[in-house]
Amino acid sequence: MLDDLERLVKKTRSFRRFCQNESIDKAILKRLVNLARLAGSARNVQPLKYMLINEPDQAAQVFSHLAWAGYLHDWPGPQDGERPSAYIICLLDSLISAEADCDLGIATQNILLGATAMGLGGCRIGSISPKLKGILGIADHLKIILVLAIGKPKETVLLEDLGPENDIKYWRDGADQHHVPKRSLTEIIVENSK
Ligand SMILES: Cc1cc2nc3c(=O)[nH]c(=O)nc-3n(C[C@H](O)[C@H](O)[C@H](O)COP(=O)(O)O)c2cc1C
Repeated sequence: MLDDLERLVKKTRSFRRFCQNESIDKAILKRLVNLARLAGSARNVQPLKYMLINEPDQAAQVFSHLAWAGYLHDWPGPQDGERPSAYIICLLDSLISAEADCDLGIATQNILLGATAMGLGGCRIGSISPKLKGILGIADHLKIILVLAIGKPKETVLLEDLGPENDIKYWRDGADQHHVPKRSLTEIIVENSK
């Protein structure tokens, strides 16, 4: 079971190129949000709400308000045909709480793990134009805090160890595979010196 979980976690990467013509039913998006609903929440106040987008016209509107892969300077983001077919807009209900950063991480990881388990994939997008809220007609007390792009992945993402220069930037090789360097276990486990 732990091996299965490790495989799922390793497979759950940030994907940015998708089979755009593979639509995703609202029922699937609801099932993913249900995984977020069951996540831990500080003081159990559960301030997160979600807007589900799967219509092509609305998805196109959302797409034009997001920024992709800041380290890939020569890549403007997925081209038409490779864009996400769905989005889950993560909203903070400010009537319930002023912040939810920790809740957001747990909730979105549950969603992305669930997406992987369903043969889908996604990407968290924090670079969001402030105009998106008005375009989607979102009420004042709800704040967009993250957008999850969801789709059927159409790219290979490979995990690798950080190189000798300790560069954490992701990169693409000649075959257009996406590489993601991760720090080693030895680097991130801090020994107790007492
Ligand atoms: C809070 C948060 C915000 C992010 N925002 C963006 C973003 O705006 N655009 C983007 O392309 N990727 C974004 N990402 C994806 C990261 O770039 C990605 O997690 C990182 O490159 C590591 O890749 P991995 O998720 O496959 O491990 C974000 C990730 C997190 C956790």
